[in-house]
Amino acid sequence: MSSHGTTPHHAAQRDAGLSGAGTNLDPWYDLYADRTAGLSASEVRALFAVASRPEVVSLAGGMPFVSALPSELIAGAFERMMRDVGPQALQYGSGQGVPALREHILEIMALEGIRASVDDVVVTTGSQHALELVTKLFINPGDVVLAEGPSYVTAMVVFNSFQADIQHVPMDEHGLIPEALREAITRLRAAGKAIKFLYTVPTFSNPAGVTLSWERRLEILEICRSNGILVLEDNPYGLIYFDSPPPQAMRSVEEDGVIYLGTFSKTLAPGFRVGWALAPHAIREKLILANEAAVLSPSSFSQLMITEYLNTADWKEQINTFRGIYRDRRDAMLGALAEYLPQLSWTVPNGGFYVWATLPSHLDSKAMLPRAVKELVAYTPGTAFYADGNGRNNIRLSFCYPTPDFIREGIRRLSTVINGEIDLLNTFSQTTPLATIPLKQGIVSPPPNID
Ligand SMILES: Cc1ncc(COP(=O)(O)O)c(C=O)c1O
Repeated sequence: MSSHGTTPHHAAQRDAGLSGAGTNLDPWYDLYADRTAGLSASEVRALFAVASRPEVVSLAGGMPFVSALPSELIAGAFERMMRDVGPQALQYGSGQGVPALREHILEIMALEGIRASVDDVVVTTGSQHALELVTKLFINPGDVVLAEGPSYVTAMVVFNSFQADIQHVPMDEHGLIPEALREAITRLRAAGKAIKFLYTVPTFSNPAGVTLSWERRLEILEICRSNGILVLEDNPYGLIYFDSPPPQAMRSVEEDGVIYLGTFSKTLAPGFRVGWALAPHAIREKLILANEAAVLSPSSFSQLMITEYLNTADWKEQINTFRGIYRDRRDAMLGALAEYLPQLSWTVPNGGFYVWATLPSHLDSKAMLPRAVKELVAYTPGTAFYADGNGRNNIRLSFCYPTPDFIREGIRRLSTVINGEIDLLNTFSQTTPLATIPLKQGIVSPPPNID
């Protein structure tokens, strides 16, 4: 529908008395395409502004601790790159990406059991851009994206921007629940919906911190295969494990039905903005065309820097260093939660960056956030990770960036806020004192219809 037609976007605007003259804030409001109706600042984004004040302990963002990367490694790679392939680094490149880097990407994916050909890899501007390209290729307005609930917030921003109908499938401590996936497919098909793909972060999920078990990986692949639904496997954290390696990637068992996304953002540095998609042959061809249409070619400079780094540095050892750092931070967070907030339940991640905590059911994590920031601690409210308003009594706590001491202090401050809320509610509530309501331990709270 044209931007001059009547759409929910414009109807809402008209109802608000804004039609025809723009708004005080944005005189161009009437001109935006319909698809921008889903494009609003995410809660995570709004938080970054507040939480970046130095006195606030931010448990909100997902920034990797890049200071752990020896700067001389990067400086050395830069010098050698400019000396050996300077003109190429400063030039446009191929829309599919630098072949030597794609060879390295095969080596990296092999660590998670994936065998592929260098021709099947498309380098993108971070895996975020791969998410956008895949969505652009498959989603018409109203098409369903099945997404685990809770789901990575900025993937949902992309799905929304293409007017997808995001339908969540609940998870528990073993990841996405296969039975709930079957039920969702049957229900949506009966309602005449077109389901295009299942979006999942099966390993050390963002935000839930849980990992899909091997048995469930096989079961979910079978469900999707038999229903003609693609799997979009987004795996930024798989190599950041703490105790034992996670199950191998879903793409290691299924080639034809999986688009796999990887990135250098968590194992090296997000500033390079280099990620990749591994896709079945026909999809890969379209991805390259879409990549060229969007950016002509991914950054030659970044790709050649990373190639040089991988050629010369002990990158596996560097990933080990990251694992050790994040393991200590995870332990600091879990220890502090047990000490200061035993009345909460939370997931215990074996890797990645996040813990997903469940508050007593009467607390609203979004409403509580301003009080937390006043106490100089920030987190991400659970509602950011659902398209349907769920997650009100969940919070995502990131342990990737602050040092262990700051994490402990952050959780201590959070306990002041949460205990204050509980006291307040107990004082004014006529119902059962919250502290006496039992909580399930260690389980991601599913939406009420499944529990
Ligand atoms: C699950 C998930 N997918 C994709 C991304 C985007 O990463 P990139 O830096 O590769 O664009 C992130 C970043 O935090 C993420 O957590």
